[in-house]
Amino acid sequence: MSKDKVQIFDTTLRDGEQVPGCKLDTKQKLVIAERLELLGVDVIEAGFPISSPGDFNSVQEIAKIIKNVTVCGLTRAVRKDIEVAAEALKYAKRPRIHTGIGTSESHIKFKFNSNKDAIIERAIEAVSYAKTFVEDVEFYAEDAGRTDNEFLARVCEAAIKAGATVLNIPDTTGYCLPEEYGAKIKYLRENVKGIDKAILSCHCHNDLGLATANSIAGVINGARQIECTINGIGERAGNTALEEVVMILRQHPRLNLDTNINSKLLNDTSRMVSQKMGMIVQPNKAIVGANAFAHSSGIHQDGVIKNRETYEIIDPADVGVDESSIVLTARSGRAALAYRAKNVGYELTKLQLDVVYDEFLKYADQKKEILDEDIHRIIESSPVKIESIA
Ligand code: KIV
Ligand code: ZN
Repeated sequence: MSKDKVQIFDTTLRDGEQVPGCKLDTKQKLVIAERLELLGVDVIEAGFPISSPGDFNSVQEIAKIIKNVTVCGLTRAVRKDIEVAAEALKYAKRPRIHTGIGTSESHIKFKFNSNKDAIIERAIEAVSYAKTFVEDVEFYAEDAGRTDNEFLARVCEAAIKAGATVLNIPDTTGYCLPEEYGAKIKYLRENVKGIDKAILSCHCHNDLGLATANSIAGVINGARQIECTINGIGERAGNTALEEVVMILRQHPRLNLDTNINSKLLNDTSRMVSQKMGMIVQPNKAIVGANAFAHSSGIHQDGVIKNRETYEIIDPADVGVDESSIVLTARSGRAALAYRAKNVGYELTKLQLDVVYDEFLKYADQKKEILDEDIHRIIESSPVKIESIA
């Protein structure tokens, strides 16, 4: 049975680039946009055109060069924003305007000093106006995570009637629990008239570390688009990490969901974005962190050397990592030392290994990590003579 496709809407260049210190110039954005197209994303949110002339220019240049992917520009529910976005997107082969408004009590009361009916009117006006420029209009209900489901359903229904093709349900503050966010998507699927005319989209922030879990709960409950960024960068604690949702869907075939992403490009893309934005990837980051396929404790190393799958659920090659690494520290065991010694040219007998291991531990207690050159030094100064087989 063929799997249902989940669209990947990449917002690295919009929500990701909002992070202080991550600002990119147009040239850098073009390189990243081309890489995202190659990676296989379905939508690139290229920027927020009204926010600055530089962002307008970036969206316009990206719209000119990207051919196989939808290029999207963000707006508020404001006519001028929509006009400027439409202008920035005029060269796009597949343009999308992403417009919307806050729908939670706090947004309605404090941000807009308004009321529910007026918010629905503004949503309808924004979608209808965007529709006069492009066919593909995505509507976001900002702070949907804290919006009561009944009102959210009314807003979504109105947006669909006005012509929205995608309904974005952002957990803007990263507050929802996965079961709550999943139930929200389910509620909308079951209670919004005309819901089959639109795709439901998950846009989750990571304030409680739940962005990925919430997005997955969303697609399990019927959403078919995930908004995410490379390395999970984004406002505050970030957005859903693209590499995580892609690999979760791939590693769990029973969900019967997949994306168009070429996962072999994930590691390289992560490095490229990290380097261009000057944003370091934490070493223990899932999928793309430097330690994601590194094993350092003796028990784990022994297991991985015997059979990689004992401690690895992803083949590193599937995400573009050459191979798992066996890191030598004072917590490593004999199997790891023998394995690494063999890699640098020494086949140790049991007796030789016993002697070298004692030396290794003394060394390792002084150093954070034992490198190849340290292995040579330890073996060459060992009391037993050991020939290199290299
Ligand atoms: O987090 C959010 O609500 C957003 C919207 C503007 C889509 O980024
Ligand atoms: Zn966001």
